[in-house]
Parts: sequence; C-alpha cells; structure tokens
Amino acid sequence: MVAFIGVYTFGFVAATVCVILLTYITYELLKTYLYPFIGNALQLKSNAGDFFCQVVGYTKEFWNSPLFKLWIGPVPFLILYHAETIETVLSNPVHMDKAYAYKFLHPWLGTGLLTSTGDKWRRRRKMLTPTFHFSILTEFLEVMNEQAEVLIEKFEKQAGKGPLNCFNHITLCALDIICETAMGKKIYAQSNHDSEYVHSVYRMSDIITRRQRMPWYWPDFVYNYFGEGREHNRSLKILHSFTESVINERAEYITYVESDSESDQGMRKRRAFLDMLLKATDEDGKKLTHKDIQEEVDTFMFEGHDTTAAAMNWAIHLLGSHPEVQKKAQQELFEVFSESERPINTEDLKKLRYLECVIKESLRLFPSVPFFARTICENTQINVYKVPKGANVIITYALHRDPRFFPDPEEFRPERCLPENCVGRHPYAFIPFSRFAIMEEKVILASILRCFNIVACQKRENLWPLGELVLRPERGIWITLERRNYTITHTHNDFQKCSYSVTENTTK
Ligand code: HEM
Repeated sequence: MVAFIGVYTFGFVAATVCVILLTYITYELLKTYLYPFIGNALQLKSNAGDFFCQVVGYTKEFWNSPLFKLWIGPVPFLILYHAETIETVLSNPVHMDKAYAYKFLHPWLGTGLLTSTGDKWRRRRKMLTPTFHFSILTEFLEVMNEQAEVLIEKFEKQAGKGPLNCFNHITLCALDIICETAMGKKIYAQSNHDSEYVHSVYRMSDIITRRQRMPWYWPDFVYNYFGEGREHNRSLKILHSFTESVINERAEYITYVESDSESDQGMRKRRAFLDMLLKATDEDGKKLTHKDIQEEVDTFMFEGHDTTAAAMNWAIHLLGSHPEVQKKAQQELFEVFSESERPINTEDLKKLRYLECVIKESLRLFPSVPFFARTICENTQINVYKVPKGANVIITYALHRDPRFFPDPEEFRPERCLPENCVGRHPYAFIPFSRFAIMEEKVILASILRCFNIVACQKRENLWPLGELVLRPERGIWITLERRNYTITHTHNDFQKCSYSVTENTTK
C-alpha cells in the first residue's frame, strides 16, 4: 500500500512538473505575441478616439522603420505608412484579398465590391465600372443641387445666431444624396431625423468597429451571447428589409415603365445606381440576382455617405479656420457664378479647380477612411522584411503626413494639390477617392460658400478625431455662419429641377 502511494505521488509530481514545463515552453514560444491568443488586443485602447491616438503615436514612434507589427488575436497585422511599402502591396493585384477584419462587414454588406475578393471582385468591378458613366453622374448632380438647397435653407435660419454644430446637418444631407442616387428613394433625412433606417446605419457602423478591435468577440456564439450580437441582428434586420423592399419596388417600377411604351416621359423617375444594377449583364449576358444587387446597394449606402459627410465637415472646419483660403475659394466661385444663384452644372464643376484642391488637401489631413487593410496572398518581401502569405497589412492615415512629399505636413495648403505641384510626387503618397465624392463635395461646399462666410469655433487640437471605420470629430464641427451680401429664395418642387432667384439681403 505504502509502495502504491509512493508510486502514485511520484506520478503526480512528475505529471505536474511536465505540465509546468510544457506551459513554460509554450509561453516562451508565444511570448512575442505578448499574450497568447489575444495578441496585443489588451494593449489597444477600447475607446475609438484613444485607439486612433494610440496608432498615430505608434506610427510616429516607428516612423524611421518601414513598418511595425501588431497582433490582434491570432492575426498578425503589419502597419504601413510609407508610400514605397504601400506601393509594394497595392500595386500587386495578387494581394487584393480583403483583410480578416472585413469579415465583420459580411452580415451587412455580403460580398459586394468593398468586401469581395478574387474572381468575384474582378467580375463585379468589370460589370459595374461602366454604370458610373458621365450621363448618370449628370443626373446625380441634380439630386446634389436639390439637397444642397434644403441644407442652405436650414443654414439660413441659423446664420448670425452664434455657434452651430454643422456635423449632423451635413451628414443628413449626404444621406439624402446617397439614398436618392443609389436607390432612387427619397428619405427626407434632412427634415425627418427619426428614421429607423438612418439610426440603424449609424448603429451598425459603430457596432462593427467595436467588434473588430475585440478578438474575444470574434466567434459568433460569444458575440451573440455575451457581446452586442442581439443588437447587431436587430439593426441588420431593419437595414436589410429596407433595402430589399426598395429593390423590389424599383424592379417592379422598371418592368412597368418598360412594358408601357406610352408612359408619360414626364412621370419617369430619375435614374439611380440601382437601375443600372437591375439592367447590368456580365460577359455571358447574365443579370445580377436581387441578392447580388442588395450587396452592392448596401455597400454604397455604407461607403457612400459617411465618408463624404466626414470629408465635407473637415473641409468646413479648415475653411473656417483659414480665412485666406476661404476668400480664394469664394473668389473662384464669384468668377464662375458672379452673383447668380443658379444651380451648379457640369461645366461649372470643371472650373472649380481651387475648390477641388481644398477638398483634396482636407482629405490629405483628414482622410475619411483612416485605415484599410489587405491580406498578403503569397510570400512577399516588404522592404527588408520577408512577409509570409496570410499576414494582414493595414494602410494608415500617417501616409498623408510624410514630410518628404508634403513639407510641413500639418499645415493646410490647398496649393500643394494643384496639378503642377504634384509633378514628381510618389504615386502612392496620396490615396485617391471617387469622382462621385468630389462632385458631391464641390456642390455642397460651393453652395455654402456662395451664401455664407464660415468661421470655425474650434482649434484643431480640440477636434478629437475618432478613427472608426470613418474618421470623424468626436465633438462635432462648431462654426458660425455669416450671411454674405445676398441671399437665396427657393422654389421647391421635388419633381422639377430646383430654381433660384437672388434678392438683396435687406438685413445687412
Ligand atoms: C471622400 C470620400 C471617400 C473616400 C475618402 C473613400 C475612400 C475609399 C477607400 C480608401 C477605399 C478602399 C477601401 C478598401 O479597399 O478597403 C474605398 C473603397 C470603396 N469606396 Fe470609397 N471613399 C469615398 C467615397 C465613396 C463614395 C461616395 C462611394 C459610393 C458612391 C464609395 C464607394 C466605394 C466602393 C464601392 C469601394 C470598394 C471599391 C472596390 O474595392 O472596388 N466611396 N473608398
């Protein structure tokens, strides 16, 4: 019996020593991940603003190195901020797979253009690029002018009355524009901010970014039971049922119009991106299914309004804090429009070169999409580092602040974006964005600047950028608006082009 206990004790001690040894060896092997399984996640700030400052701090700290590495859960992310290393990744079509974190957009966006990869992305891209042709952009311009008019009318009521947070006003305007151009649906967000759909769009973007930063919520069952899974699913239902019903309604409408050749042209609706999707065919003449179409419409709704809204808000702040730049932009507008208050047409847009520089320079300082990511699809050399297949790279905000390409990078100098001043600049020093966004920004900013002088009420250091999916100011954009020496009277009609007339402002 004693012998048995002795053997038993020895076995127990030996097993314990083995477990301790194994744990130690595993720890030694994995300690570079900081904490096994969750990587650097615990070091990362959970608040979006702090997280953004943290990444900006790291890029400053490691500026002289070609990259740095963060582990988020079991996934290694390489952070890139130099044009040369970014070129290595973005110029190679092999690495066009979207990074792991995009997976959390799938429940909402499916695999539309933003989230798809490989063959599916290539086929869709080929099919959809022609839908953004010139004539449809001209129709979109009408929508933009109309919504600018609603915004100006709201601003007129606020002008001369002290500080105003313009962030939501601009965002709702951008939302009205994207709903009508993407889906052909008016949602009147500018006059009715209680829309369930609008709330869900914001809620969903928030929920997704939080999940991306917290690897312990990556498995669905943990997320659904312990995280925000239920709220995520509630918002998802609202978002999908809205776009689904709009697609069905529009498809029926198109069938009706096509079958009725006598139908009154005057009653025809303006074309929307959705109409192009309903008609588009691939190389084999196959149409997209309603599910395919929904992916793209949801993608446009997600990617196409928060980005432009944030960009316009940052530009308004910068214009409001640089009176000399604002004056130059207003001078250009005067040269194009004189005192006329007519809507903006495509010819005018081409002439607004300085305003375009203001928009680009604002996006350099405050890029609406501060981070985006790719998966490395084959072993690659990035600068001196061998990067294995499967690693993720994040392209960051700091790229636009490289003093080699943008001397005094924190300074707001629109002239750097004049074509003649871009000659010889590294082609990957600035991440480009869509023609649609430039057009929308020009129309809205030009409409504001034609009517008002903007004065910023905040200093740059008090803006607190929040780097979520989209870069936005935590406390909004506070400005005062002063009427210029004439004002607009409007004639509204939803089914007609907007018309303006000028009356002398008797209040000045
Ligand atoms: C100032 C405004 C905008 C900025 C700064 C911006 C920036 C970006 C960036 C950086 C990407 C690459 C993201 C990635 O690959 O992960 C992207 C992709 C995309 N954006 Fe935007 N965007 C803007 C406005 C818009 C608008 C207005 C639309 C739609 C009307 C739009 C639709 C898309 C789509 C569909 C993609 C995926 C493209 C593809 O992979 O083929 N964006 N955008």
